[in-house]
Amino acid sequence: MGTVIVGSGTALPELEVSNDQLAEVMDTSDEWIRSRSGVHMRRYSDPGTGSATLGAQAVLAAIADAGISPDEVDLLISATMTPDLLAPGNAPLIQHQANLGPIAAFDIRQQCAGFLYGLELADAMLSSGRATTAVVVGAEAHAGYLPFGPSVWGRLRGEHANPVSDADYQQATKYRAWSVLFGDGAGAMVLRRDPDPTRGFLGGRLFSDGSLFDLIWVEGVGFRHQPYVDQTQLDAEMHLPSMNGMELFRQAVRLMPDSVAAVADEHGLRVNDLDLVLAHQANERIIAAMRKQFGFDDGEDRVPCNIAHHGNTTAATLPLLYQDLRDESRIVPGQLLSFTAFGAGAHWGANLYRVP
Ligand SMILES: CC(C)(COP(=O)(O)OP(=O)(O)OC[C@H]1O[C@@H](n2cnc3c(N)ncnc32)[C@H](O)[C@@H]1OP(=O)(O)O)[C@@H](O)C(=O)NCCC(=O)NCCS
Repeated sequence: MGTVIVGSGTALPELEVSNDQLAEVMDTSDEWIRSRSGVHMRRYSDPGTGSATLGAQAVLAAIADAGISPDEVDLLISATMTPDLLAPGNAPLIQHQANLGPIAAFDIRQQCAGFLYGLELADAMLSSGRATTAVVVGAEAHAGYLPFGPSVWGRLRGEHANPVSDADYQQATKYRAWSVLFGDGAGAMVLRRDPDPTRGFLGGRLFSDGSLFDLIWVEGVGFRHQPYVDQTQLDAEMHLPSMNGMELFRQAVRLMPDSVAAVADEHGLRVNDLDLVLAHQANERIIAAMRKQFGFDDGEDRVPCNIAHHGNTTAATLPLLYQDLRDESRIVPGQLLSFTAFGAGAHWGANLYRVP
């Protein structure tokens, strides 16, 4: 028996924002963002529509795609860095909004590696008989993190065409190194056991190294502070992410390819046996470096990149990429895939999937 993907679905917010629009509200340019990251545009969720709502929409789309009814699902794993609430997690909110039964539902916190961890956990729960139909969902609403003032949001949402205030412009510019990279969205997969053990998830390796915790992190609004949030933290902007972009880049281009090669090796395979590597989408240049390291120079795009249209959607990049490839008929039976990711924590890893 193997665990296979029997359905997938996504949900994207309506508001689409181009690099040129961002260049109207901060000191940046389409040229800088495209050449440094490959992002052309991203979507932002509306106030009041958090990651749980996007996640529930993606879950329902995946369930419909699988051709099953919501009450057949008995496990929900939710991966997000931007939950609706500090407590409880997104899983019960998604379970309720998607009309699932009173099932096992929990959140995991592996940021950009969240969906990969979710796939591995779901496979383990299904193969041990603890569940029969699992849904893994990655959903993010980064818009809440963005240091954009009211005049910036008003302009991006098309509510006015005036220049933004000086203070809002300076504030948005201060955080431009990471704010231009991220986008919102959700993706989900339905997983079940398949009688054929030669197909589906073949195995995976997950890693964590907490010594890298501050490569990208949010220092404030946590319970080592008493009270956990106060004006001092807000004035110091400790509720906003801090990122060491260059070091993250350096680690990602090393650890994702290494884990793909390690998991392939463990299964007596070579990286060259892989038809597609579905990698976390943080930067087009990271993807290009991976293609080079793998020696994929056969002209085929074996490490696909869809960051241009979505930006970095953290836990949602892998299911969004899978769905885009499916829509382009690029996922076909018999292919050998590897999912790989690297994210804040740091957490990373890779697995292997034989398409049924
Ligand atoms: C963030 C990232 C795109 C930055 O690319 P980079 O080539 O390292 O750029 P730098 O940070 O060195 O900045 C270069 C210059 O561009 C400027 N810059 C930064 N953001 C900018 C923006 N949005 N627009 C214009 N200029 C910008 C910097 O101020 C710097 O200017 P300076 O040389 O005058 O000081 C890149 O490091 C990256 O993608 N890292 C990985 C990020 C990641 O994976 N994050 C998710 C975690 S899973």
